[in-house]
Amino acid sequence: MDLAITGRTALITGGSKGLGFASAEALGREGAKLVLAARTESTLTDAARKLDAVPIIADLAQRAGVLGCIDDTRDAIGNPDILVINSGGPAPATFAETTPDGWRVAADQLFHFTIEMLDAFLAPMREKGRGRVVVITSFAAREPIANLLYSNALRAGLHGLINSIAAEVAGDGVTINAVMPGYIKTDRMTGIGLDLDRIAATIPAKRLGRPEEVGDLVAFLCSDRAAYITGQAIACDGGILKGI
Ligand SMILES: NC(=O)c1ccc[n+]([C@@H]2O[C@H](COP(=O)([O-])OP(=O)(O)OC[C@H]3O[C@@H](n4cnc5c(N)ncnc54)[C@H](OP(=O)(O)O)[C@@H]3O)[C@@H](O)[C@H]2O)c1
Repeated sequence: MDLAITGRTALITGGSKGLGFASAEALGREGAKLVLAARTESTLTDAARKLDAVPIIADLAQRAGVLGCIDDTRDAIGNPDILVINSGGPAPATFAETTPDGWRVAADQLFHFTIEMLDAFLAPMREKGRGRVVVITSFAAREPIANLLYSNALRAGLHGLINSIAAEVAGDGVTINAVMPGYIKTDRMTGIGLDLDRIAATIPAKRLGRPEEVGDLVAFLCSDRAAYITGQAIACDGGILKGI
């Protein structure tokens, strides 16, 4: 299937590793010109070299970092045709462990960062009459995980935002969707001391997902072929989420 992405420009935030990198790789394979943003110069330049992408060093949990990333992206490729919004996850916490400051930090990291990106890039997409936005969230937005309060709450909020925006921009050829990864074997997952074999046994597919399985879904949603899919939160989770 030709996804008709060749020649499109794409910004993938958190694009140096894991799900962001896999999304960039899939978009690059389909011919998109890529910009990747992340904080760590060494992994970012490695990833950019592999994918022939433009690297932008930015801390997207800080407003100044987000605004700098927006400017640098415009300098590199203009306003992107494709925007994949992704970053690190917030700290784990039960509700008893959360704090008002912790909520503010997590909101900057997930919610305010997303708003700034959309504020910068949705209007040019609408003017152009086409655009694709994918926000990587989590299955935890629909099926809360006990000690991930910040993530559970803020990502469910992102879904509300996406649903609302989708209706506003659909008539201008712009789509916006969320992708909800289940347990996907990225560096992050292998590095936080989880018992991955035990988790895999609880997943209907009986295994963790591969980053490229998320990347392929992101690339499809960013393609012309997905022009009639918008305002959705689509899981890539091996069957964890069972309800609609
Ligand atoms: N993997 C899973 O199973 C899974 C499941 C559900 C949801 N998710 C969510 O999906 C997202 C990506 O997960 P992942 O597993 O791909 O993580 P990952 O392998 O750790 O990759 C995260 C990427 O985001 C960048 N990043 C993190 N914090 C950043 C910041 N403040 N500013 C700019 N870039 C930042 C990282 O680079 P630097 O560290 O160099 O900045 C890296 O490129 C996370 O939000 C995670 O919570 C993942």
